[in-house]
Amino acid sequence: MSSDQQPVDPTKPDLEDSTNVAKAHEEVNRTAAAASREQQLRENGLEPVSIWLMVAGFVVAIIGGSVLLSSDNFFGYSDFTKEGYVRAEFESGKKTIPMALAGAAYMKKGAALYKNCAACHGVDGGGMAPAFPPLGGSEWVTGSGAVPALAIIHGVTGPIEVSGKPYNGVMPAMADGWSDYDVAALIYYVQNSFGNSVREIYSPEQITEIRTLSKSYGKKQMTADELKKYLDKKFEAPALTTDTMLNLKTGEVVDASE
Ligand code: HEC
Repeated sequence: MSSDQQPVDPTKPDLEDSTNVAKAHEEVNRTAAAASREQQLRENGLEPVSIWLMVAGFVVAIIGGSVLLSSDNFFGYSDFTKEGYVRAEFESGKKTIPMALAGAAYMKKGAALYKNCAACHGVDGGGMAPAFPPLGGSEWVTGSGAVPALAIIHGVTGPIEVSGKPYNGVMPAMADGWSDYDVAALIYYVQNSFGNSVREIYSPEQITEIRTLSKSYGKKQMTADELKKYLDKKFEAPALTTDTMLNLKTGEVVDASE
């Protein structure tokens, strides 16, 4: 039979060679399969997302997130807390009210308020000659507390002698808007600083008496002659006792037995 077959011509494609054709088919099939796998991969949602889609996603997340956070309807603090809610250990009160003995409370408060006076009367209360009289050793300070109180509520004007030296200037009203606690603390402070020692711990009722006196002078500054009338002023209401506790913030008396 082999004699019937033409000899293989190396210059022509070997179409008869079945093994070569099979190989070629196999090659074609493999390529097609790979292509089809690739095609599947691109359509099953696992392919990398377009960068613009990602950017759009971030924008939505950021805007949406900030809207949610800033809105009280979603994450409102009020949803989780009751109005007027006080933590349990605060309810008993005692521990948490910042308080001190009246004298100490007045000294602390008074020292802070004295900053309003220091520019003229000096940090040490020594005054500044020749215009500003001293508060340390001044007979106007060491008498009744009504005098320094009236001095700061109304201001002082005209000739005045302080510790044997004459002054003639003007002090503006200093206590506009001050509470009774402020006034009481300030006069206690100046009466017990700079070498002064008076020790009367003014009660709110005593400050009320001073405010009543003050009314008849309207908005005017007071003169030495007017102030002089109150150097021996005795109060009708009693002073606070040394063991009185005050709320440091409000100056209210704290009943320690509660
Ligand atoms: C702007 C300057 C100034 C300020 C601030 C000032 N004073 Fe005076 N004060 C004077 C002058 C000036 C006199 C004297 C007024 C006169 O000559 O009539 C005086 C007088 C007084 C007197 C009577 C005289 C004496 O020296 O004892 C008292 C008390 C007093 N001041 C307390 C105070 C207190 C307390 C404050 C702070 C709340 C204060 N002053 C803030 C300027 C000031």
